[in-house]
Amino acid sequence: MHENTPSISTSVITSEQAGRLVIVSNREPYTIQTHGNEIRIERMPGGLVSALDPVLRRRHGLWICWEDASKKSVELEDVASDEDSIDWDKIQLPYQIQPVPLTQQEINHYYYGYANTRLWPLFHYFISHCNFFDEQDWPSYVTANQKFADAVVTHTTSEDWIWIQDYHLLLVPELVRQQRPQHKISLFLHIPFPALEVFKILPKRDVILRGMLGSDLIGFHIPDYGHYFLEAVERLLPDTEVRIDRQNQRIVYQGRVIQVGAFPISVDAQKIAALVSTPRLQKQAKRLRDNYPSKYIGVRVDRLDYTKGILENLEALKLFFQKYPEYIQKFSFIQIACPTRTAVPAYQRMREEVEQAVGRINGLFSRDNWVPIHYFYRRFSLEDVLTYLMIADVAMITPLRDGMNLVAKEYCAAKVDLSGILMLSEFTGAAYELKEAFMINPFYIEEMADSLHRALNLPAEVRQQKMQALRRTVCNHDIHHWVQSFVDAFQNAVNHR
Ligand code: G6P
Repeated sequence: MHENTPSISTSVITSEQAGRLVIVSNREPYTIQTHGNEIRIERMPGGLVSALDPVLRRRHGLWICWEDASKKSVELEDVASDEDSIDWDKIQLPYQIQPVPLTQQEINHYYYGYANTRLWPLFHYFISHCNFFDEQDWPSYVTANQKFADAVVTHTTSEDWIWIQDYHLLLVPELVRQQRPQHKISLFLHIPFPALEVFKILPKRDVILRGMLGSDLIGFHIPDYGHYFLEAVERLLPDTEVRIDRQNQRIVYQGRVIQVGAFPISVDAQKIAALVSTPRLQKQAKRLRDNYPSKYIGVRVDRLDYTKGILENLEALKLFFQKYPEYIQKFSFIQIACPTRTAVPAYQRMREEVEQAVGRINGLFSRDNWVPIHYFYRRFSLEDVLTYLMIADVAMITPLRDGMNLVAKEYCAAKVDLSGILMLSEFTGAAYELKEAFMINPFYIEEMADSLHRALNLPAEVRQQKMQALRRTVCNHDIHHWVQSFVDAFQNAVNHR
């Protein structure tokens, strides 16, 4: 799909172009932290913020997000710093942030409820994790989406380019369109869009589809998700209302044309390569490596989410040590699990299960001064994550379902020395592009264990060839490419409407 696309510079939207870029997302781009008497604003981690933050800085754009963090909303010039962490006294926010105040009740039912115990599990094919019984979830989702839409209407003009993010805000496109028919509106879904048989389980599925269809452009990570969306629209909305043009990936709805497209999100490969090449990180990685006596190191980094397949991976590791006992004391695995959505019971249960499984495996195989699994349950900075990726001979990225998975791309970007093997679940969006990875079916435990064995025994030359090809893909289709290709498609969609 991207073979002939040249790598794109970081220019992103020409300065002559009228209108601001307006990002609308549930999460805030910055969070305010207090360290003693000092107040600091820290940039939130993650691909979305690192991609869009520099664009908004240059364009003096606007970011609309939930109340949580953006306690201070200021527009400032002259913010040259590209640091993730900013000293509040010296520098204030580099562009305008417009908070949308939500009540605790709304956060409980819109965010924890409808978004994270219905849409999230269903779109990741975890039907049994869906809670369809709380009647307050849907009204709160509608109210919260209306609040976001009202904020867009109040704080933007028809010149602006509205870019709505993710499953929390699927109704916002239509809610804005109703009030501002001429607005330029796009939506990007950061999670999978499921196959029809699964999507159609969702109560209010037609309202969700109509909400999304308020956009001029709807972006997904990979073509499959776009196909599923077209199929859902075709089969679930009356054919008197919609016409599908599959060849051009367009939908005609209420007299408007909606463009659908695939835009695989990525990482800032250049920045990662520069960071891992600094003497500071090199030294840090060497120190870290010296802590582990094993000959081989395996790593994975996840939010502690049931979609990530952490338990299945642990089972595969247990089987690996049983089948290949010669790796006891020779191979150590590091599981970094970041706390997430801890108020949702499924996440609390998952944490308990993961910790019990780690304990069981360590109990079975540990030797004096050696443990098979090193487990961390906390947030790591990008730099710390990178040092773990740098020392890993193998990264096991084996989600049961994942819209993209950026850790897989970070791993490739960090392996400037071409060492390392990527084991990747075929149920990730990343598998669509990272073809040279060791493809894994995370539901097939024995195969996972055997693949790990094969991966560790791969000749150095083959390993390097694979990593070189993977790095080429990640570097050519980096985060700047993602932003630019989405914005180009957005402009095209608006020009053709
Ligand atoms: C996924 C979602 C994002 C979300 C992130 C962290 O990547 O697609 O929209 O922000 O998880 O989850 P959280 O619930 O902490 O925002």
